[in-house]
Amino acid sequence: MTILLKATQVSRNFNVKASKTWFAKPRILRAVNQISLELKTGQTLGLVGESGCGKSTLARMLIGLLPASSGEITFAGQPIQAKRNAHWRAQRRDMQMVYQDPLAALDRRLKIIDQVQEPLVIQNIGDRAAQLAATREALDSVGIGEDLYGRYPHELSGGQRQRVVMARALVLKPQLLVCDEPVSALDLSIQAQVINLLSALQKSRNLAMLFISHDLRVVRHICDDVAVMYLGKIIEQGPAEKILSQPAHPYTAALISAVSHPNGGKGESGEKAPRKRILLTGEPPNPIDVPTGCAFHPRCPSVMARCKTETPAKTMLQGRHSVACHLHKGTAPLVYVPLTNETLLATPNRAAA
Ligand SMILES: Nc1ncnc2c1ncn2[C@@H]1O[C@H](COP(=O)(O)OP(=O)(O)OP(=O)(O)O)[C@@H](O)[C@H]1O
Ligand SMILES: [Mg+2]
Repeated sequence: MTILLKATQVSRNFNVKASKTWFAKPRILRAVNQISLELKTGQTLGLVGESGCGKSTLARMLIGLLPASSGEITFAGQPIQAKRNAHWRAQRRDMQMVYQDPLAALDRRLKIIDQVQEPLVIQNIGDRAAQLAATREALDSVGIGEDLYGRYPHELSGGQRQRVVMARALVLKPQLLVCDEPVSALDLSIQAQVINLLSALQKSRNLAMLFISHDLRVVRHICDDVAVMYLGKIIEQGPAEKILSQPAHPYTAALISAVSHPNGGKGESGEKAPRKRILLTGEPPNPIDVPTGCAFHPRCPSVMARCKTETPAKTMLQGRHSVACHLHKGTAPLVYVPLTNETLLATPNRAAA
């Protein structure tokens, strides 16, 4: 597998006013803070983290929709274009995005068939007959039949609309698909259908995919690897199975515990016994006032003195698994020691260290 997308030390700051008064000084909001990652052809990477941690900002930078404040991004070895010129348009053809709200992503005045054909017309790809054939093929691949071709977006169900958005993204035969919460606006009953379809299309077309979601269960189902973000940084990354069954960062452990079965049976994350719910205390994160040291320390159940002052460096664990947490020095796994019924304390396994 070749490296398709590569980000090196990418950051994005926004100037924001902390209050509405006219004399309030603008402050810097660090939405994405020195992130490096790679995505290979055919690989799926899940990006998870709480609302506001910078997932969409990172995704938009990666596909050239938002300029980075610093750092470098390359796609197929070429720097991502900042200026919206012909080169930018050619690059964008290979990178498509599926958004959370399918109605907002579609043009209400266009029939479904024209909607899906439009990117080919804009990019001037093929003659009319070839465009029509490619459009039909894309619609067919997402299970939209001819009976719906003449309808408008508001005449479709939410699931059908999201399929049309997927067809519109796939008609250009991209190499990379970025999905930003693609099913969170859909009914629970059709979420699984759309996810399964995405997964099948990704495999059959050997697409590289960045999949953003709040839902760790969905990410586990569809992704090879998972990156966990907290306040603009990736704090843990590795193979999905590994991260979900043996999280190394207390924040990841808390996210996983929130989707585990509350009692009995096998946990959603695949572990033999379900974890107890880890309640995160403290203020929700604010990217304007990022805490010193480890940004997670005010909410961490395992906080130590050094976490308040020293920013943890990325540590490689076994099997492509990396974490930025002072609990880890090398390969020592975490052991979860129950404190109360509802709170768990994560401590490094001293014996294994
Ligand atoms: N154009 C902008 N101007 C100022 N601040 C912005 C802008 N875009 C994003 N932000 C801020 O950057 C931070 C990250 O936003 P982002 O949309 O990337 O989060 P997210 O992880 O995608 O959240 P969600 O899960 O809710 O979609 C937030 O604090 C947001 O308010
Ligand atoms: Mg978002």
